[in-house]
Amino acid sequence: MEKFVINGGKELHGTVNISGAKNAAVAIIPAAILCNDICVIENIPSSISDVVMMMRMLESIGAKVCLRNKSTIEIDSRTINSDCVSYEYTKHLRASYYLLGALLGRYSHARVAMPGGCDLGVRPIDQHIKGFEALGADVRIEENAIVEAKAPELRGGPVYLDVVSVGATINIMLAAVRAKGLTVIENAAKEPHIVDLANFLNTMGADIRGAGTDTIKIRGVESLHGCQYSIIPDQIEAGTYMLAAAATNGDVIINNVIPKHLESISTKLLECGVKVEEYDECIRVCGNDRIMRCNIKTMPHPGFPTDMQPQMAVLLSVAKGTSIISEGIWENRYRYVEQLLRMGASIKVDGKLAVIEGVDYLKGAPVRADDLRAGAAMIIAGLMAHGTTEIEDILHIDRGYEYVVEKLTGLGADIKRIDVPEPTGIRSAG
Ligand code: EPU
Repeated sequence: MEKFVINGGKELHGTVNISGAKNAAVAIIPAAILCNDICVIENIPSSISDVVMMMRMLESIGAKVCLRNKSTIEIDSRTINSDCVSYEYTKHLRASYYLLGALLGRYSHARVAMPGGCDLGVRPIDQHIKGFEALGADVRIEENAIVEAKAPELRGGPVYLDVVSVGATINIMLAAVRAKGLTVIENAAKEPHIVDLANFLNTMGADIRGAGTDTIKIRGVESLHGCQYSIIPDQIEAGTYMLAAAATNGDVIINNVIPKHLESISTKLLECGVKVEEYDECIRVCGNDRIMRCNIKTMPHPGFPTDMQPQMAVLLSVAKGTSIISEGIWENRYRYVEQLLRMGASIKVDGKLAVIEGVDYLKGAPVRADDLRAGAAMIIAGLMAHGTTEIEDILHIDRGYEYVVEKLTGLGADIKRIDVPEPTGIRSAG
């Protein structure tokens, strides 16, 4: 077990390089099995645990996956010999269910254990199933534990998503890319990683149009071939460093980003009185002594991302005035509030709303990373707090933030990763 120890109150200064996007990587890695060939994928955040686990999952079905260097992997799908993925792998991350779409697309049959992932409330997969069924697959869930999908032959069809779902849009694209005929996904998700996946598949020879809009059209092709592809920068990692710069009243250049992907975050920072300058491939964020209040409503892209909601709540906890956050995606994304209250924040949660009364400062405390983005929020809170903050359960943070200690230390933060001895057995008295 490990934890982070942060001595807060240091302004962040300098330049930080953003890694490749986790949520694009975990879709593109399984997509590589749709060909019987070699794919070389660059700008991979290869040390985060979600990506490591996705690579192991591919190996578990027979693919050869090797690291050419720390941000480039090679996937050889010619040796795949199984269409089943066990819970031993899928329990670690939500995106494991992309193997369902990818294996279904490759073999017209897939058997994959139900996925794990952050606990953000109920996470149904009904829209994924609806999509597979629209392609002619028969889908069965065995004892709520294993999903099996099979079709004599996948054929394209229309799919209307009842909710805008990133995961369902990706899974349906994966299954449809080699199906016979045309698949049209209406009310599709428009996140940058949806577009990145479509670009990757098109580089492999697919025929996908409209990614990034509400309607995605996929004309099935007979086969796909290997390719070389570079993943987009991580929107949420970039946004997290933008907020860390603002929260510490720092001056940071966030490098290797696509500023267009960060517009909803930049706009809110400007509303809070933070200076944001956009360049071609970087963004400069300069803090302000006193952050102004603002309201946030999380929405599918291009709205404000739910994955930045906890980090934004930390910033607003020291803003001048009262801010209101409305969570529009997940039913249970305020668990971190309990930790912030222990650091002196004043936040009341009522269902999907959080009302934040800005306080003068946060004070360091022992806290917990309840999930990935909650953990990122705790880091920002620790960086801006007076005194020392210790963050436990940092394995959640390691799922999505590459070299976080090194990157923050490079900006002047005082953050260390330390080992925590495993607790020994407790003896009962008497
Ligand atoms: N939903 C359904 N039925 C479905 C699928 C989704 O009702 O079949 C609902 C969900 O319950 C939720 C909403 O639709 O209320 C949106 O869920 P979505 O499917 O878009 O989420 P996801 O694909 O499971 C991805 C990201 C999450 C991010 C959400 C929303 C990945 C691997 N995960 O999850 O990222 O919060 O989109 O943008 O791409 C993170 O990176 O920390 C993270 C949790």
